[in-house]
Amino acid sequence: MFSYSFGDKSFETLLEAEGLTAAFNANLEKAVTYAKSLAASSLLPFARQASDGPDMAPIADAAARINATCDDLVVLGTGGSSLGAQAAIALARFNKGKVRIHTPDSLCPFEMDLLFRELDTRRTHVLAVSKSGTTAETLAQLLACRAWIEAGEHAANLGDHFTFITEPGKRPLRTYGEKLGSPILDHPTDVGGRFSVLTNVGMLPVAVSGLSVKSFREGAEEVCDDFIKNPGAATAVVGAALTQTLNEHKGITQVLIMPYAESLRAFTRWHGQLWAESLGKDGLGTTPIRAVGPVDQHSQLQLFLDGPNDKFCTFVTIPSYGKGPRIDPAEAKAYGLDYMAGRTIGDTVTCQSRATQETLRAKGRTVREIVIDALSEKNLGGLFVSFMLETVVTAHLMGVDAFDQPAVEEGKVLTRQYLNELDI
Ligand code: PA5
Repeated sequence: MFSYSFGDKSFETLLEAEGLTAAFNANLEKAVTYAKSLAASSLLPFARQASDGPDMAPIADAAARINATCDDLVVLGTGGSSLGAQAAIALARFNKGKVRIHTPDSLCPFEMDLLFRELDTRRTHVLAVSKSGTTAETLAQLLACRAWIEAGEHAANLGDHFTFITEPGKRPLRTYGEKLGSPILDHPTDVGGRFSVLTNVGMLPVAVSGLSVKSFREGAEEVCDDFIKNPGAATAVVGAALTQTLNEHKGITQVLIMPYAESLRAFTRWHGQLWAESLGKDGLGTTPIRAVGPVDQHSQLQLFLDGPNDKFCTFVTIPSYGKGPRIDPAEAKAYGLDYMAGRTIGDTVTCQSRATQETLRAKGRTVREIVIDALSEKNLGGLFVSFMLETVVTAHLMGVDAFDQPAVEEGKVLTRQYLNELDI
């Protein structure tokens, strides 16, 4: 399904050349011991979202109901309650004729005005997602959406325009959904926001988009099986040990994720949040950088090549020789473009990614390439779980808790206070 490599040389050779073999081995041993302890308890709950799990039917039912009644689905949620869904449904962006899915994850008055101008209240459904059920952005958007739908033409039962995902228990979002009489799906209590992509949070939008929830989860299960069977060779474990070693001994303070596929652009946003919010703690952490190839070769690559050597670069590639439109040979030659005559767009992109990685390596940068064999639900499910596992194993090596975010809570409290104090 997917594999990783570090160019022509093995990463053991690269580590030896840098004098980092002993440091890496020590981190790897610690990472493997931790991975085995996770495996012994059949992994963490975020990874245990089974392709035949009890939530499959409720997800399918909710998706069928939404699909039957609307043309536009507005998914309200922020951070982990939106980014996973965005990354997953990016694979469906060419599914014509399906429900259009909007994900206004950043509270923006202008975007909301625009959305309300464009959409038809009669054919709009709102999915409000918040694990805590207390997030100000999501609640503000929800109240605004309700007022907009109520003021327009709508179903006899207003609650039919809404679906909710939130944790059980008393919380504003749940109470709101109950009062509207709308369907409410339980957010799993043992899965954190940014780790929730494989739960109903990511998978309900996936089902609405026409993609296969089962395939996403099967891909994740495959990666989990490999992780359990042979943790020492798992991409997540080796990646975590390497990141930690490079951070401790080579001044690496940033991690770059650079896929060569537009459909994985949203994936880089998902990864950025996962990595930053899970690992930026106690004065520690490595900063995630997002880029997409080949377009960002024309924006950030100069810095990656010639700026400070402080990045661990991960390329995610899909070998695409022969894929995409083919360039007419005669036409290309007529303009002196012989090197692209008869080549496909996929040939070009694959060569660009290869050339960029080689140039980075020649400049002494550490470059990992994760190769997936296709842009599929299965592979994306595998990537999700692999990067989540890499994050928690890295957190273990750093000695931080991957699952909390104490620092951002302070700002949330102040926002509520300032809103209260506003003179209106
Ligand atoms: O990962 C996290 O925990 C956060 O990014 C949350 O997902 C985000 O703050 C939204 O929280 P909630 O789902 O409670 O609205």
